[in-house]
Amino acid sequence: MTQRITSVVFLLGFFINAGVVDAADLAPLDMAAAEKISFRGDVWPIVKRHCWGCHSNLDAKGGLNMSSVALMLEGGDSGPLFEAGKPDESLLVEMITGDEPEMPQKQPPMSAAKVDILRGWVLAGARDDSPAKTTERKPVIPDVYQYAPAVTSVSLSPDGKTVAAACRSEVVLLAVESDAPPRRLATASDLLTHVEFSPDGKTLAAAGGMPASFGHVSFFNVATGEIVAARQVGADTLFRGSFAPDGKAIALGGADGAVHIVPVDGKAEVRRFELHSDWVLDAVFSPDGKMIVTAGRDKATKVCSAETGELLRSVDSSTDLVGSVAVDDKFAVSAGRARLPISFELSIALSGVAVSGSGNGSRPVSKRSQYAKNFEGQPGPVLDMAMSGNRKTIAIVGAYGEARLYNVADRKRIGQVAGLPAPLYSAALNRDGSRLCIGSKSGEVRIYQLPDGKLLKSFAPVPVAESAE
Ligand code: HEC
Repeated sequence: MTQRITSVVFLLGFFINAGVVDAADLAPLDMAAAEKISFRGDVWPIVKRHCWGCHSNLDAKGGLNMSSVALMLEGGDSGPLFEAGKPDESLLVEMITGDEPEMPQKQPPMSAAKVDILRGWVLAGARDDSPAKTTERKPVIPDVYQYAPAVTSVSLSPDGKTVAAACRSEVVLLAVESDAPPRRLATASDLLTHVEFSPDGKTLAAAGGMPASFGHVSFFNVATGEIVAARQVGADTLFRGSFAPDGKAIALGGADGAVHIVPVDGKAEVRRFELHSDWVLDAVFSPDGKMIVTAGRDKATKVCSAETGELLRSVDSSTDLVGSVAVDDKFAVSAGRARLPISFELSIALSGVAVSGSGNGSRPVSKRSQYAKNFEGQPGPVLDMAMSGNRKTIAIVGAYGEARLYNVADRKRIGQVAGLPAPLYSAALNRDGSRLCIGSKSGEVRIYQLPDGKLLKSFAPVPVAESAE
């Protein structure tokens, strides 16, 4: 029922937004109202949502980069985007109005309200109220921390013998079966949000960034601890994601609402897909590498083509944000604050949908009730979900002191580990699901043997001042 109401509201929103603007009868603008329009607060969110995906540093279609006011004034192949004070004689307004506005390309026309915000801003002088660019701040990594940093992400090597834990700006590598000292690897991220071993265990990715400034990914050689490649990605922090099955790239969600496909090869191009209307919190490849399942703060779980980024289907809209997804060859599982992980049978959800080629015209033929099945409810909001490398088992953790393990195929609970330090920010399984690793807000990492739940190791990844309590 909730699902139906949500869809109806969504559809209404869509039709209102699609109200076509006619160039001939552009409404006169109110100067007093126009004066109040802020570039940062009003204009930039519109540009970022509707234009920036194709007009940025990474991809300036038609020669036009809309990343800043100065660049807009510079314009593209046909000249400046506008002249301050004259919106209705501008290329900008010409492109976004009319019976079938040319821009945004391949998307529904923008609403009249949004068009008027852009027009008003240009009319009032196209003022740039963006904060001055902060001089690039290098994260400071203390030798000894005053307080234990939260463990925001953990990963287990495929053999389960090495743990990677993300603590603020550094990744710590620790051997589970020996007393070798931890290896601390620094990154340029202010806060790391995702660490992951590649499927062959040889490369470690560490992703994060600095909010409202940049996303960042570092790839390390696990054997030597050396950086193989590191790069800034987009203009906002990155969240979670997963390696492609061939280990050549990692897909990561972003606070800029995009899914970023970042190749390990530092010279290969980063691709970005615009699918969500808000933060993308997780992105996971299907086992054959052909699809990516994503979820985010807009409460939606979506399936897209990994090759083209084309949206194949929105399989669900939850009642609350969805922070984690997992995929095997039959099912996609999503979990988040709503406490109820849901499994989607992909063959049914995508029946009638063309997986490659022009999917724009193809309509899904199935209904949600045919392909969506609930897991049991969790004791509290879910904060992370991990899948074993063989994609048979998932571990679910959250704002409570328990990790629950499930069989993906039938959604049955196959085990749990209790007495954990709540809240748990992160979980990981190794390839065959014989080891579980958890990371807590309080800064603890623990590794358990499965299925018996025997504690193998518990440690604080970084040194903390003894007096700190
Ligand atoms: C899906 C991709 C896409 C999106 C989104 C998009 N554009 Fe474009 N835009 C293009 C492509 C491709 C071209 C160049 C070829 C063409 O004109 O069709 C272009 C060209 C332009 C040009 C002409 C540049 C020149 O100097 O020749 C303008 C102006 C423009 N876009 C404005 C916008 C605005 C404003 C938005 C947001 C409302 C937007 N675009 C969104 C793909 C896109």
